[in-house]
Amino acid sequence: MAKKPTSAKALELCLLGNPIIRKEAIEVESIKSKEIQTLLKDLIVTVKKVNGVGIAAPQVGRSVRLFIVASSPTIRYPQAPKMTPLAVINPKIIFASQTIVKGWEGCLSIPGIRGLVPRHESVTIDYTDKTGKKVIKTFTGFVAKIFQHELDHLDGKVFLDRLDTVKDIITEKEYIKQMKTNILLTKGKEIK
Ligand code: NI
Repeated sequence: MAKKPTSAKALELCLLGNPIIRKEAIEVESIKSKEIQTLLKDLIVTVKKVNGVGIAAPQVGRSVRLFIVASSPTIRYPQAPKMTPLAVINPKIIFASQTIVKGWEGCLSIPGIRGLVPRHESVTIDYTDKTGKKVIKTFTGFVAKIFQHELDHLDGKVFLDRLDTVKDIITEKEYIKQMKTNILLTKGKEIK
């Protein structure tokens, strides 16, 4: 009997409160292993299914240093730029702009809320791609925010840890309502 081909599958999300979300993840050693390659494919399926723009391995219960950046306009992020999902392995920030920009973020592991998070406007990341090739690249704006958010997950941090004040937390329901009715939300502004 022919072996059934394995196809990528959506994985179950780990939510805030699960200890793995607060754990520092370990470096990936064998990028080309079936285990890691399968995880990367499954993460892409998972992030699309839940309308995310990024997902880190600890969010599906795997404490290893890799994430997917998959910016695309979704119900959760209508303004997101479209890009081919990118697998980022063992990333390090080697340069971060001094300009800090605040923007609304949500997290698949913290459903129902959004926070106004200060992030570097651009970051230069040193990482390994899914083929094992070393890459150094600079990202700006929304995609730079995703990198910083996902990289935090690898260090056991979540966006709530980055807020200036808990008053910068709002419900997702209210966020979507205000966005739809075009009421001006607290605008992201540059701070030094
Ligand atoms: Ni997140």
